[in-house]
Amino acid sequence: MSKKVLIKTYGCQMNVYDSSRMRDVLAPLGYEETESVEAADFVILNTCHIREKAADKVYSELGRLRDIKLERAETGREMLIAVAGCVGQAEGAEITKRNKAVDLVFGPQTYHRLPQLMKQLQDTGKSVVETEFDVSDKFADLESRPQISTSVAAFLTIQEGCDKFCTFCVVPYTRGAEFSRPVKQILTEAEKLAAKGVREVTLLGQNVNAYRGQGASGPESLARLVTQLSQVKGIERIRYVTSHPRDMTDDLIEAHAQNDKLMPYLHLPIQSGNDRILKAMNRGHTTAHYVQIIERMRKARADMAISGDFIVGFPGETDAEFEDTLRLVKQVNYASAYSFKYSPRPGTPAAERADQIDEDVKNERLARLQSLILEQTLAFNASCVGKSFDVLLEKAGRQAGQLIGRSPYLQSVHLEAGNLKIGDIAKVEIKSIGPNSLSGHYSPVESNIRS
Ligand code: 5AD
Ligand code: SF4
Repeated sequence: MSKKVLIKTYGCQMNVYDSSRMRDVLAPLGYEETESVEAADFVILNTCHIREKAADKVYSELGRLRDIKLERAETGREMLIAVAGCVGQAEGAEITKRNKAVDLVFGPQTYHRLPQLMKQLQDTGKSVVETEFDVSDKFADLESRPQISTSVAAFLTIQEGCDKFCTFCVVPYTRGAEFSRPVKQILTEAEKLAAKGVREVTLLGQNVNAYRGQGASGPESLARLVTQLSQVKGIERIRYVTSHPRDMTDDLIEAHAQNDKLMPYLHLPIQSGNDRILKAMNRGHTTAHYVQIIERMRKARADMAISGDFIVGFPGETDAEFEDTLRLVKQVNYASAYSFKYSPRPGTPAAERADQIDEDVKNERLARLQSLILEQTLAFNASCVGKSFDVLLEKAGRQAGQLIGRSPYLQSVHLEAGNLKIGDIAKVEIKSIGPNSLSGHYSPVESNIRS
């Protein structure tokens, strides 16, 4: 009988990618994936440390798992529990100290060693904590493993880590220094994905546009990597996330003008609309620089949609400085954006500051910012009605005969399938907007489909 593993993923898309690779690493050991805790012999929490709330969730989930594990022990059935990801990296042995039911702790750079870690656990009967750092080793190991892909749109990590050290952020400590995978390794992975029916790849990296991977004759930029990827047969759409304004190069902006496979959607976090705060955050760019990038992107592709990240209530942020953020949001006009209350992270410079902002003030600022962003997202969605987009069909809808796909702007689009199937890219006219998705209509003429 096969064993079952439940991998619960928290946080960013890089964790989603890592979780799918953990599944690849465990498959040769006889593990199949399950979504049910009851069925699972092994539960892995692939965790996020970016904000306090995210890390807290892990400890409460571990409490629940411990109870299940103890109940099971009475019936003689085992359950292994692992903490992977950034909480594992940041807290290491502290986790096994706090919760004795945890068997394995490892970080984002060591999950390829899961088979050895599990053997060590079995041999010694003691919990194993492994938080070494060697990213190149990880990717070289993963390259040899067949990938189980289940979707026509896949993530592909091309870069990891961060050298920027924004004063609020734990990523440089949990994911380590910037590292780029070699071009050839990425092309091989994309070819394998395409052979399995993947038609869209989202290139992932904490600073994806800082990509400088080794190519045939020296380091290559993200733009040049995208050019090579767009020649991989079967790959029809390319996205990349997350970018930093400091690394937004001319050739990447130009690539959006030249390459139709590059989707017209840019996620470019700014965090604050005030230059003093940006400086205190150690962002290394001004609001003017950011706005200029957006303008140039929109010149390169008139239909470019913009997304971003914001933090409200950074230490010392005044009311007037927060108003600058609202002003910037109005100026840029986002298709979507994520916003967060500043959360002090142990070990980061901003957490040490004495001028922390009151929780009530943070709540009030977040509510105002989110309501402005929601207004812009709804307006963007409304502006799509009547337009025709290429939609990549990803899965069946809830109702019979319905398919769900994604627009170039990552919106979910529901439609009557007709003769379409998952994996097709169909020209779809947007008819109406719902709270979380768009409804479209497809006319079955030859020119409207790419299968
Ligand atoms: N508090 C709140 N938000 C944070 N982010 C990163 N660190 C923090 C923090 N300490 C946000 C940033 C980043 C996104 C991934 O998470 O906006 O772009
Ligand atoms: Fe964190 Fe800043 Fe690096 Fe992004 S660029 S991962 S926000 S330190």
